Amino acid sequence: MHLPLTLYGDPLLREKAHPIQTFDAALATLADDMVETMYAEEGVGLAAPQIGLGQRLFVIDMRVVPSEDYTFVLDGRSVPVELVMPMTFVNPVLLLDPEPVVQGEEGCLSIPGLRAEVSRPDRIEVRFQDVRGGEHTLQASGYMAKVIQHEFDHLNGVLFIDYVKGRARKQIERDLAALEAELAGSRATAPESSHP
Ligand code: NI
Repeated sequence: MHLPLTLYGDPLLREKAHPIQTFDAALATLADDMVETMYAEEGVGLAAPQIGLGQRLFVIDMRVVPSEDYTFVLDGRSVPVELVMPMTFVNPVLLLDPEPVVQGEEGCLSIPGLRAEVSRPDRIEVRFQDVRGGEHTLQASGYMAKVIQHEFDHLNGVLFIDYVKGRARKQIERDLAALEAELAGSRATAPESSHP
């Protein structure tokens, strides 16, 4: 099921999500729906707060990204990306290598139309559970490390725009104000049925 997205200005995007304790069929269905929504919205990652749920869960699919742009090792093994994607991360714990830090452009399905340069560590390790509760460890670098950090941040109410500093900050604040006004306008005129 293609779920409606939570958009910038919704307070849920700023809340800390709660750990998942029940690994049942409903969780598997939720993960499937999030993957379907991510594909429909043409994203490479989607976190539960972005579909209105304050739960510690996100999904990614790296197959649309050129393979030379990232590396990963899952549970100590090199595995073909086609075998593991889409991937669901439940209750993730993130460890960052402080160096090196790399800059790259980011956007977010919840902040339509805005993009900005963000600096992040290039290498990460993430410990997480799958939808059945199985425990895993993944090391990633490059684009995949960036996507995982971005989605993980959503679980703590952090958005990529929070990292924009210096001269770019003024511009992004103007863009955000314009977007918020536009979204508030569309909410005010939307029919009730669009808010299930
Ligand atoms: Ni995002």
